[in-house]
Order: sequence, then structure tokens, then C-alpha cells
Amino acid sequence: MPINISNLPESRTACEKEDANDPLRSWQDEFYLPKGLIYLDGNSLGPLPKKAIEQLDQAIRNEWAEDLITSWNKAGWWELPETLGELIAPIVGAASGQVIVSDSTTLNLFKTVHAALGLRPERTVVISEADNFPTDLYILEGVTSTQQNIQRRLLGKDGNSLEELLDDQVAVVAFSHVNYRTGEILPIAELVKVTHEAGALFVLDTCHSAGILPVELDQWGVDFAVGCTYKYLNGGPGSPAFLYAAKRHQQEAVNPLSGWWGHARPFAFEKDFQAAEGIRRFRTGTQPVLSLRGLQAGLEIAQKADLHLVRKKSQRLTQLFIELVEKRCLNFGVTLQSPFDPEKRGSQVALHFENGFAVIQALVTRKIIADFREPGIMRFGFAPLYIRYTDVWDAAEALADVLKTEEWREKRFQQKHEVT
Ligand SMILES: Cc1ncc(COP(=O)(O)O)c(C=O)c1O
Repeated sequence: MPINISNLPESRTACEKEDANDPLRSWQDEFYLPKGLIYLDGNSLGPLPKKAIEQLDQAIRNEWAEDLITSWNKAGWWELPETLGELIAPIVGAASGQVIVSDSTTLNLFKTVHAALGLRPERTVVISEADNFPTDLYILEGVTSTQQNIQRRLLGKDGNSLEELLDDQVAVVAFSHVNYRTGEILPIAELVKVTHEAGALFVLDTCHSAGILPVELDQWGVDFAVGCTYKYLNGGPGSPAFLYAAKRHQQEAVNPLSGWWGHARPFAFEKDFQAAEGIRRFRTGTQPVLSLRGLQAGLEIAQKADLHLVRKKSQRLTQLFIELVEKRCLNFGVTLQSPFDPEKRGSQVALHFENGFAVIQALVTRKIIADFREPGIMRFGFAPLYIRYTDVWDAAEALADVLKTEEWREKRFQQKHEVT
């Protein structure tokens, strides 16, 4: 159902009123955010859920310090990939037994694309998007380098529609739900349908949608999916990713990273590999337990928060920001890179400005955090559980001021660090 976006606040006072009546308002207290900071980068790294401090404290003081190795059983460390996977499942529209938390998105992409290829052994082509996140493209190169005769076709380079690229040689289509730069949402249900009609399988990267948009992996018929937990699921820096494998494929699917955690009997220490039943076969090796333990608080928040309210507020926040930018910033050479249609836009707004990097640095010194992606893209993420309408207002004002005064030209804003 499209959301009607009307009555956006037209003054800062109106924003304050909107904040006071916001049904999601109480969630802000669940997060630690430094005073006076406007954090528009939850699309890169979510803030710290306060409960994660308690959970990590418990994991360090009790489980690690006191109980040591007995915690593998006593504190359920061994089962954490499945336990946390069950918390993620409803957030991405998956029934029980299809999600684990393990490794990184990058590794999980390798595992799932490889597994999907193995389910279509007579076919030789993998399709992705030319503008997909680089790791998704690099991993396809890696997969194709390990298998003879597998080729990559890219939407936007080798053809302009998925239909045009599909034929009876295509084994796998691997797309991202939301474009990392522009925030554009792809119509996944439709894309899965045409993929299946062509006899291929669909692998979905949900890094920019899990926890912020309705995702319906089972209903859409997605075959495999991956996603990270450190963005909108607020799991912490480098928190482990998740992997979804539809039940119908689990018996046949082969995890190419066949480590002992995915063995049917890991503690039998047998010489030969035999895959575990079900989703467990996608485990690989020993996991970062502290990072897993720090993730639960963020997942519990994502499970409890009403995702439809989150989506509605996200569309209103991004629309408000776009409208303010259009009024105040367009004559300085800024252009909108995100879809104007809120139905097609994720929870971020991308603006192009040639010196965007320096503008973002100037905003950071004003305690407004956003980020920059080449070429010239300033990304502003609006996570509705802790971002207020007044934050949007203040960020747009500050952006307009940095552009108008040309503060970004100052030498101190030109120096690039490794992470942008
Ligand atoms: C769409 C997408 N896929 C994958 C990744 C990163 O994967 P990893 O966590 O393995 O570095 C990102 C990171 O921003 C991303 O945006």
C-alpha cells in the first residue's frame, strides 16, 4: 500500500510538534547517541543499543571470565548462529530454520552464489547489476575464477533489463534489494518471478533493507539471501552477517566453505566432510562470540518495532529532507540522486555535489554525521527509531549554510582518510 505523504512540517516548530506526536519516539531512549550529535549514517553503522552494553558485559564478565570454555554449552555460544538467525527470520519474512548468523556478507555471498550455481550445473551464466556494491561484483569474479566456463553478465552494462539478459544459460541472478549509493529499491518479487520463469535462481543482498523496509524472502520466492547486521540492525562494528537458504534447497545445496562448524557431527572429528542437516550446513568455522553476543539487543529492537510505522516515518523523513534541499541547496549545484518517488526510495537520500567529500567533512565538524561515496555522492541515512524531524530540519539548514558560505573550501576539509 503506497503511503500518503502529506502535511510535512513547514517550520522547525512544526517539526518539534511532529516529534512530540511521533509514535516511534520512545525508541530513541533505547540507543546511546552522543549529546548534540545528528547521526545520519545508520545506513553504514547503526548506533549502540543501550542493552548491548549489558549483554556484552555479561558475556565478558560472566561467560568469558568466570565460566570460560564451559560457556560454549552453558551460555549457548555454540548455538548462537541459529539462535540469532531465528531472531532475524521474522524481520526478513522467513519461516523458522532458514537463517543463520555467521561470517560476513562477503563470505556469505560466496557461499550462496556458489551453492546456487551448484543447483543449476548445466548452466554457465551469473547475472548481477553493474552498479551493485563492489564486494558483490568482486565475489562473482571470485566464484567464476574457481569454476570453469562460468561467465558474468551485468545489468546496465551488458543489457538494460533483466529480461534482456536472461536465457537458458543463466544459472543465478544476484541483486541487491536497495542500491548502496542511490537508495533505489528494486521490485524483488517481480524480478524473482522472471528469474524463475527462465529456470534460474535468485540470490538477494539485503544489506540496505533488512530492518528498515518490509522484506518478504519466503513470499517473494527468493532462493538465497545475505545481509549485514551492523547497519539498520544496529549490531555493532563488524558484527556478523546473516545467510538465508530457502528450505526447499537445503538438502541439495552445497556450502563450498565446508568447515567443521557445518559438519553433521563436528565433535566426532571425522576425516571426511558430511554436511549437517538444514541451515546448519552453511556454518563454516569458529565465530566471533563477543560480536555475536553484542548483536542480540539490536535484533530485539528490530523485532519489536513496528516495521510499517518505521517505513512510513522513513518515507516522511527522506521526503522532508529532499524538499528542504530542493528549496535551499539546488542553486549551489547539488542534484538529487535518489528516486523522488518515496515508494522507490530506501531510507537514505543521495545528493551529488562535485566537492561532496569536503561538504561532508564540514558537516561532521558541525556534529552532523553523514558519509561520502565516489563519485561525488553525499549519503544521508534516516533511521526512524532515533532520527527526529527536527534533526532533518537542522541537517538541511546546516547543509545549505555550508554550501552558501562555501565553508567546504577550507583546507582542513579536503584531507581524505582511508574510510570516507
Ligand atoms: C550492498 C552491500 N553488500 C555488502 C556490503 C559489505 O559486506 P561486508 O560486511 O562483508 O564487508 C555492503 C557494505 O556496505 C553493502 O552495502
